[in-house]
Amino acid sequence: MCGIVGATSVSEVLPILLKGLEKLEYRGYDSAGVYVNYSESKDYLIKAKGRVSALEEETSKVEIHGTSGIAHTRWATHGGVTVENAHPHKSEDGRFYLVHNGVIENYEALRDTYLQGVTLQSQTDTEVAVQLIDKFAKDNQLNALEALRMMISKLDGNSAYGFLLMDRQEPGIMYAAKRKSPLLIGVSEGTNVVTSDATAVLDITHDFIELIDGEVAIVSKDKVTLLNEAGETIVRAPYHLDIDESATDKGVYPYYMLKEIDEQAIVAHTLAQHYFDEAGQIINIDADIISQIKRADRLYIVAAGTSYHAGLVGKRYFEQWTHTPTEVHIASEFAYDQPLLSENPFFIFLSQSGETADSREVLQNIKAQQFPTLTIANVMNSTLTREADFALPLLAGPEIAVASTKAYTAQIIVQVILAHAVENSGLDLKEELAKLAIDMQTIIDDKEIFKTIAEEALDGQRSAFYIGRGLDAAVAMEAALKLKEISYVQTEGFAAGELKHGTISLIEDATPVFGLITQSKTAGLVRGNIEETKARGANAIVLATQSLSRPGDDYVLPDVNELLAPVLSVIPAQLIAYYSTLARGLDVDRPRNLAKSVTVQ
Ligand code: AGP
Repeated sequence: MCGIVGATSVSEVLPILLKGLEKLEYRGYDSAGVYVNYSESKDYLIKAKGRVSALEEETSKVEIHGTSGIAHTRWATHGGVTVENAHPHKSEDGRFYLVHNGVIENYEALRDTYLQGVTLQSQTDTEVAVQLIDKFAKDNQLNALEALRMMISKLDGNSAYGFLLMDRQEPGIMYAAKRKSPLLIGVSEGTNVVTSDATAVLDITHDFIELIDGEVAIVSKDKVTLLNEAGETIVRAPYHLDIDESATDKGVYPYYMLKEIDEQAIVAHTLAQHYFDEAGQIINIDADIISQIKRADRLYIVAAGTSYHAGLVGKRYFEQWTHTPTEVHIASEFAYDQPLLSENPFFIFLSQSGETADSREVLQNIKAQQFPTLTIANVMNSTLTREADFALPLLAGPEIAVASTKAYTAQIIVQVILAHAVENSGLDLKEELAKLAIDMQTIIDDKEIFKTIAEEALDGQRSAFYIGRGLDAAVAMEAALKLKEISYVQTEGFAAGELKHGTISLIEDATPVFGLITQSKTAGLVRGNIEETKARGANAIVLATQSLSRPGDDYVLPDVNELLAPVLSVIPAQLIAYYSTLARGLDVDRPRNLAKSVTVQ
């Protein structure tokens, strides 16, 4: 995955590119680079390892002028993190410059077939692509567009790409093409842009043209031409993206993650306002979604990472209220190992970004089987929302931190609302959500407590556990992922009752074991499991709801309808992960090896 931004403008393009990369850095931050074209005889290619700030340092050493260019932040797929492997990649004769988001599955075969004798500068599939463009152009007297199309025709069907190409001989022109990887064209008076994420260019425009798989766009500062796979010109009106640009800034926060944790209570309130009218009746859910779920004999929730964990919680609402058996699947497994499906399945895709390639692969497979699909996502107009039959918004606002927080609680709340819309839960849900938002804020305001817990319990620890039963086991998995992905503490999220069947052997003196107790039916059993870990030296930290708490527990959560408890019990885990990461001097928003939106399989 990576971030792509390109611009052709009436004014200097470098500031636009660098600001765009800063906004995109959360999508991949191993290395970065820019290509700026001033004229057919004057251009600049500058690349740097590490953060965008390293690239800005390099560009400040050279006086760069030009009104068109392309730029890229990289999350390494093929080839290590080096300057040579950073994008943009250029063709051997310096004519073509290419940035790419995705994976070319057959790049080695293409290299061996067509590029004998060409000296490659990097280990990347992207450089093979740009050298192919150059070769096809030379061998067949093709222009940039024709050579790009010919290269694309050689890619195997599983390859994913978002390409942005410039030809030194055509200053001011960008060629964009995509399949599976997101690319948008932003249009405004005097400046047109291409980006993998709209939030990168909101200071330039809020108006975007969708690029569909297989299409190519030819973009200059005052014109956008869309060509379909047959090369015919197509017309597509821009859509307006209503995101407040300041929502993508950290504001007064040191990290996006803390801002996004803080925003969760507001998001819960926003969702209650969006999905309920004054009288507490459900609105803004297409009646067809409800009827299709009613007609289904089994629901399949498909997602990855944190979204998968939200699905594990959502399953309870659909089964308990709609009485429809519900399965939750990891997208990358389902994609290539499809389980036996029921006669009338209904598929729900959970995703913050709406661009996760693993989930999109499943969506494509399911659509080919003509089953009904719904995407619940934070980014509307994303691939998964566009390609599903139905879409429902999370309304959480841009989530920039790699570690997902507000999207998780929003996904749970929207699943609660949807299940209640299908079969009335008997709850005064609008009222329940209003109370939930207040309770969420109470916990968020106790952040100093979680700072102390994190610093004391996790100091110097290389492993930890979150344990619980039922819904608490599902939350334990999400809690563990938070700690793992940003503080690099090897953390197990485990069903408390399962520990004694093997994994308890990992418990050592002072191993932190966080026990989640919000479910009355199993509260006593979980306490027993916690005692089993303490008997083996564990440092137990107990987080329990008021009515299930006991003296000595480390944190008491407000009482809440037990079905809604996951929305509360995850917040301490988010904050403990945040403070543990700070205490370790690590980058909370951009943890190593990760990117915000995983657009490769
Ligand atoms: C969550 O903290 C992770 N960053 C990651 O697991 C994420 O949830 C996963 O990649 C799915 O992304 P999506 O919700 O955008 O589909």
